[in-house]
Amino acid sequence: MDARPAVDDAALGREALAVLDANWTGTGTMPAPGLYPHQWSLDSAFVAIGLARADPGRAHAELISLFDGQWRTGMVPHVVYHTEGGYFPGPSLWRSRDRPAAPRRVATSGLVQPPLEAFAAWWVWRHATDSGSAAAFVRHVYPMLAAQHRYLETARDLGGAGLAAIVHPWESGMDDSPAWDEPLGALPAVRYGYLRDDLPARHPDNHHDRYVWLALRYRDSGYDPSYLRHDHPFAVEDPMFNAIWLASCEAMAELAPLAGADPRPQLEAAERIRHALAARLWDGLYFARDLRTDKLIPVATVGSFTPLLDPRLAPEHVGALLTTLESGRFMGAAGYPVPSCEIRSPRFDRSNYWRGPSWVNTNWLLRHAAGLHGRPELARVLSACTLRLVRQAGFRECFDPFDGTGRGCRDFSWSAALTLDLLADNVEP
Ligand code: GLC
Repeated sequence: MDARPAVDDAALGREALAVLDANWTGTGTMPAPGLYPHQWSLDSAFVAIGLARADPGRAHAELISLFDGQWRTGMVPHVVYHTEGGYFPGPSLWRSRDRPAAPRRVATSGLVQPPLEAFAAWWVWRHATDSGSAAAFVRHVYPMLAAQHRYLETARDLGGAGLAAIVHPWESGMDDSPAWDEPLGALPAVRYGYLRDDLPARHPDNHHDRYVWLALRYRDSGYDPSYLRHDHPFAVEDPMFNAIWLASCEAMAELAPLAGADPRPQLEAAERIRHALAARLWDGLYFARDLRTDKLIPVATVGSFTPLLDPRLAPEHVGALLTTLESGRFMGAAGYPVPSCEIRSPRFDRSNYWRGPSWVNTNWLLRHAAGLHGRPELARVLSACTLRLVRQAGFRECFDPFDGTGRGCRDFSWSAALTLDLLADNVEP
């Protein structure tokens, strides 16, 4: 289907639910039919957030099915292949079942994505009307969430300062962001001829071949954390990945008493990440740090603002981030917030995925952050503009930040799900 959402709120909500129903595979929600036919972890977390009020039972099921793919190391893979279906990279690239720590029942990828799951579980719990089933859900998922966080602490703190490093652009949730151009450009030139005639050109030069090369190197190490620490050529501390991790640690601390767990380790982890974000990634905005050069990557992206998800962010950082966000570098010169790359950057590209277009999920995160920092007017603008985008162009993957034209695939699950959440706030006092 290609939903063409209506202007009326109730009809828009029905269209969003219809997209999510059509994208339900029987075990979880695929991000989009055709292009992304399996379960992606970041997408599932946003879907659960969007369904928290509309269909809490399905929000529970979404997260629980994602954890079917969790490895014994605690790692929650970024793709879980519950279903058959052509997608590259598929199970044959990752070969998860060759690894003793991987689950037997489902094939998975070997990478992670920003760990939004605990925040999503907290969001679902906090909006629950049936407190009994919400508490049972929390007790069920808490140990899996705690293991996921332990994995990040032990296997991914490659810089040794308390942040988790991503080891592949696909781990960022912003796959082709210009922030990865430099670390990718430092890799040897490889030619797998990955680019296929039947796919739209998505990536500059041979980045996609390098993505595959990096994934194969990590796989061939046996997904070994010590290989990542010492030899893997791509290791980056990303502000959005870590800001989401921090928000998830805070969420875990609130959920801990329900699960009979001690909230203190989670609060300590949040404090460690808060301190390391400021000490290592702040330079007027938050930038990614390339651990292989030990330098900040000076490309401002929508991810540069996500440390605003921390209600305890230093007030001078809050002020500077909000000023830049609303300036002509980002929202101030765009018709439709928030461009994924700084508009004035030479790398900005209004029509190319994470190189410029606006996305519903990052708008939603920044809208939530604006609320945390006492900026209801900014939150209202972000919500209204996001709803305008989907009303005009449909539940597209992303949108031209100047004229709102839809880009990427159609019937995209997190665009539909987060629309439901924004609509739920429209009707609540
Ligand atoms: C793209 C996005 C990533 C998302 C995936 C599935 O790879 O960059 O964030 O999870 O698509 O929707």
